[in-house]
Amino acid sequence: MADHLYDVGLIPGDGTGPEVVAEARKVLDAAAERFGFRLRFQTFPMSGRHYLDSGELLTDAQLSEIGALPATLMGAIGTPEVRPGILERGVLLKMRFELDLYINLRPVKLLPGVPTVLAKAPEDGIDFVVVRENTEGLYCGAGGFHKKGTPEEVATQESINTRKGVERCVRYAFDLAKTRRRKHLTLCGKTNVLTYAFDLWERVFEEVGAEYGDVTRDYNHVDALCMFLLMSPQRYDVIVTDNMFGDIITDVAAMLQGGLGVAASGNLHPGKTAVFEPVGGSAPQFTGKGVINPLAAIASGQMLLRYLGETDAAAAIERAMIATLKNDMKGVAVGEMGIGTSDVGDRVRDYLLAEK
Ligand code: IPM
Ligand code: MN
Repeated sequence: MADHLYDVGLIPGDGTGPEVVAEARKVLDAAAERFGFRLRFQTFPMSGRHYLDSGELLTDAQLSEIGALPATLMGAIGTPEVRPGILERGVLLKMRFELDLYINLRPVKLLPGVPTVLAKAPEDGIDFVVVRENTEGLYCGAGGFHKKGTPEEVATQESINTRKGVERCVRYAFDLAKTRRRKHLTLCGKTNVLTYAFDLWERVFEEVGAEYGDVTRDYNHVDALCMFLLMSPQRYDVIVTDNMFGDIITDVAAMLQGGLGVAASGNLHPGKTAVFEPVGGSAPQFTGKGVINPLAAIASGQMLLRYLGETDAAAAIERAMIATLKNDMKGVAVGEMGIGTSDVGDRVRDYLLAEK
């Protein structure tokens, strides 16, 4: 919307996070200039570095500030000095749970000029979206130890699936499928073994699906889906699944679209707030070298604009990314781009502004 002012949070994070966020911001600012809206950024310190310096992970005040913003862009959080689990539970998952960001949206699109891991890219392309439930399942932390450290030790970890949580996720996926050209939704589960959790998912899928006469639907077990992702990814349009399966299949899917250098995601509570981030991590070994690919962060920024309703700007960013990939980049992986991190941001910005 012309002249509209959006308040957007920025969490640069650790390692190469700040570098890629700077490039995404460059592109977002250019999009705002061209399409006549305004962005006001508010930066937040959450990171492994900040935790080591201050002992602070994610405070209640920060949570409510982020929750009050329409959208936030994050780089990546994680540093080898902080033991695994602390930042994940204390920042990333806390943000997803406390802000009730119940959708994890992961588009998988093979852009022209990007090499896929498949020996032969399908002729009809790869263009699907994974809708991952983001607040329940095995991620809830339900379970515990019994007789820990003894030979009789028991460890349990339970998957929590609520009618409300499953239904809102499935409904979001049907709504999304409805807007797409092929209008097809696949439920990914494991109904043959996880006979309680995916029984609920399957019933909800059928019930809600009956309301969406124009969306065709089918079901795949998660193991078969992994096989089909590699054999014939063109069969998918929208995939909906639980938190754990969604985590796993989106890493496989990210490789199909060229890897973590280009894979973007969003954690959404539609209508309330959303946090966008590259699928990949902070890649601390490359910090300051200017070799990391910022396209995943730029694509996350593009998703952010689409979420805010700036769909023309989002589409223009995608065209500028495609032009950059085609004309200026040799590859998308670290060491294969042929140009540096900030060059990629510069080119995308320049194509975006030149189209005017
Ligand atoms: C992701 C990540 C997170 C997850 C980790 C870092 C907690 O792998 O966003 O996919 O498992 O969800
Ligand atoms: Mn993951």
